Order: sequence, then structure tokens, then C-alpha cells
Amino acid sequence: MISIKQLNERDIELCCELDSKTISLWSKKQWANEFKKDGTKIFGLLIKNFVIGICVFQVVLDEAQINYFVVNQKFRKKGFGSYFMSYLIKRFEKLNLRKLLLEVSESNVTADRFYSRFDFYNVGIRKNYYSDGSHALLKEKKLRTK
Ligand SMILES: CC(C)(COP(=O)(O)OP(=O)(O)OC[C@H]1O[C@@H](n2cnc3c(N)ncnc32)[C@H](O)[C@@H]1OP(=O)(O)O)[C@@H](O)C(=O)NCCC(=O)NCCS
Repeated sequence: MISIKQLNERDIELCCELDSKTISLWSKKQWANEFKKDGTKIFGLLIKNFVIGICVFQVVLDEAQINYFVVNQKFRKKGFGSYFMSYLIKRFEKLNLRKLLLEVSESNVTADRFYSRFDFYNVGIRKNYYSDGSHALLKEKKLRTK
């Protein structure tokens, strides 16, 4: 059974585990900081009690910035990422947020295509942003507010 729930500091080991198996972005200390940041929320996509996806986002005024979005490698290309993103978009729209922002490496073709399907548009570029020299694409999606 698939479910989505807000994670808290007690779930930090699960976050570190999925991160280390996927994009290895943050240390345990950095994850702990994310849980403490003002306006930041961490949601998990679960099958039974197993976390297969994580999204970290920060709400500032009427915008949400997605700082982390990952699905476990073994569960990709099965629609789970889309299910998770659709859920989050609906949630943001209910909160009357206007915009969704994120950044992704220009070399991450899979993620770029994934976000395009959700009508994220390029609004800027940070040159040589990543350690491999690739540029970061800044993307934005307009949300449907009531
Ligand atoms: C980007 C990411 C989250 C997508 O997650 P996902 O679970 O694979 O997403 P989906 O399965 O919903 O969609 C991925 C593709 O699989 C396809 N797909 C979905 N269900 C499918 C199925 N049953 N059979 C075949 N293909 C399928 C989708 O059409 C989509 O194709 P497209 O993007 O080429 O149009 C995932 O690849 C990931 O975690 N990447 C590493 C982290 C990352 O790059 N994050 C973003 C940067 S911040």
C-alpha cells in the first residue's frame, strides 16, 4: 500500500539511508539541520512502512522551493515519482501557494524531462554550479490558486 506522510527527526536514519543509496547529497548533520529549518518540511513516499521517496521543501511566503526530490533507484520508472509530485502540487495549491521552484543540473536529463512533464519552465541558469562543472537550471512552475 502506498502512502505519503510528513517525516520528522525520528526518521533521520531512513533519510540518510535513501540518500546514501541515491544522490548522497547530505550528511547526517545536514539532514538534522533540514529538520530544524524554519518553513522546511520533509515528506516521505512509503510502500507499507518502507520509505521509497523523499521530498524536502521550504515554504517562503507564497512560494515553495523543492530542495530535494528522490525516488529509490529500484522503484523508478513505475510512476511513483509522478504520484508523489502530483500529491505535493495539489497540497501546495490547497495552501494557495503561487509558485514552485527548484534547481536541477543541466546534465540530469531524466529529471529535466520529469519536471517538464509537470510544466516547470527554465527561468535562469547558475553557471558551473555543481562540482562537475555542470550548470544548474533554475525552474519554476506556476501553481493554480483559487
Ligand atoms: C527524477 C525522479 C524523481 C523520477 O522518479 P520516477 O519514480 O522514476 O518517476 P516516474 O516513474 O513517475 O516517471 C519517470 C519516467 O518513467 C515513465 N514511466 C512511469 N511509469 C512507467 C511505467 N509503468 N512503465 C514505463 N515507464 C513508466 C514516465 O513516463 C517517465 O518518463 P519521462 O520522464 O521520460 O516522460 C527519479 O529519476 C530520481 O529520483 N532521480 C534521482 C534524483 C534526482 O535527479 N532528483 C531530481 C533532482 S532535484
